[in-house]
Amino acid sequence: MKKTAPTIDTATLAGRRARLAATLGPGIAILPTAPERVRNRDAHYGYRFDSYFYYLTAFPEPESVLVMIGGDAPRAILFCRERNLEREIWEGFRHGPEAARERYGFDEALPIGTLDEMLPKLMENQPALSYPVGTDPLWDARVMRWLNAVREKARAGISAPERILDLRVPLDEMRLVKDRGELDTMRRAGSISAAAHRRAMQITRPGMYEYEVEAELLHEFRRAGAQAPAYGPIVAGGANGCVLHYVFNDAQLEDGDLLLIDAAAELDGYASDITRTFPVGGRFSSAQRDTYELVLAAQQAAIDAVRPGVSWNAPHDAAVKVLAQGMVDLKLLSGSLDEVLEKETYRRFYMHRTGHWLGLDVHDAGEYKHAGEWRALTAGMVLTVEPGLYIRGGEDVPAAFHDIGIRIEDDVAVTDSGCEVLTGEVPKSVTDIEALMRSGRG
Ligand code: GLY
Ligand code: MN
Ligand code: MN
Repeated sequence: MKKTAPTIDTATLAGRRARLAATLGPGIAILPTAPERVRNRDAHYGYRFDSYFYYLTAFPEPESVLVMIGGDAPRAILFCRERNLEREIWEGFRHGPEAARERYGFDEALPIGTLDEMLPKLMENQPALSYPVGTDPLWDARVMRWLNAVREKARAGISAPERILDLRVPLDEMRLVKDRGELDTMRRAGSISAAAHRRAMQITRPGMYEYEVEAELLHEFRRAGAQAPAYGPIVAGGANGCVLHYVFNDAQLEDGDLLLIDAAAELDGYASDITRTFPVGGRFSSAQRDTYELVLAAQQAAIDAVRPGVSWNAPHDAAVKVLAQGMVDLKLLSGSLDEVLEKETYRRFYMHRTGHWLGLDVHDAGEYKHAGEWRALTAGMVLTVEPGLYIRGGEDVPAAFHDIGIRIEDDVAVTDSGCEVLTGEVPKSVTDIEALMRSGRG
């Protein structure tokens, strides 16, 4: 049986764990993966590992915990499920500790059933304890039980960790800057998602339902080997495009409307995130073209602003400036550009920020500010650039603009000299979109 499981670069994983151990210093770190979640009765939601855990282990199975001992002789110990013929007949392969240790490069691996017995012992005389504090009340309680078990041994001269630290803090910083392998996976995820958007542009016709287009996207993700969508796909025709987190995808598409699609695949744990907006009937009306080209110009200005050393907020500022000027020019807003920016009246039609970090999570780990200041971009960071314009209408808005919802979103990696767009394989100029849509009708 040939499988397409990702190759595991154990040296990279060991390198990440070593860097984390060096940051933490002496102490113990505990990191459980995500639990399986019941959808109803015996049916579970599709399993997705915890991103932090996966970043340090690449180990995909539930009921697993990574324990790291820092200091002079650092050790990485995996606790995981044992082989079990009966369960494997029902649910499929499990590595078991021995194979997991070998394949994923841990120093030690132990059965998950020994966790409550082993952890108090491993915590003995460790000066610090790091774990994802407050993410799960059950884990909080369990870790405190282990800690208290160690404290009870004080009279035997055994000390318990004095400091409790949030393990997510150093990991967030590490995850923010992607290495070559991560960027390569994200490039491939971007390519798969781009192909799905091209397919959507080619097959969309008036009279189809939003879910029919969604089905084409999902088909394209899966057939290319992506494990899942990175987030719930938004397929929003006409006025639905003005609902930022539209989820229903059940309306019929009408000739003359725009279709906004925000959908992308997750590949080997890494998200992509693409939005395109195009006319259901294959031709932009003149009001649609004017607003679309405004958003496109804002997106280009924002992408042009992405390079090392600039503030996180620079692309947002660049997009807002272009959009605000356009809103004045199209008579969507009155007043001067300075007034519109100063009073933020543009927020009526552009109410979200221009992007977010992207990585293992679609809204990825990493702080946006340091000590109250927007942080500077550095090579290896990946962000989305996604300006939009959402015109719900109103008496003071020219009728031709009513119910126009537009967003254009790409994934951008900061490079040493500027940036690389990871999702450039979907057209976004008016001419290119219309040409691709015509080719689908050929
Ligand atoms: N698809 C989620 C977002 O664009 O932030
Ligand atoms: Mn996004
Ligand atoms: Mn998106």
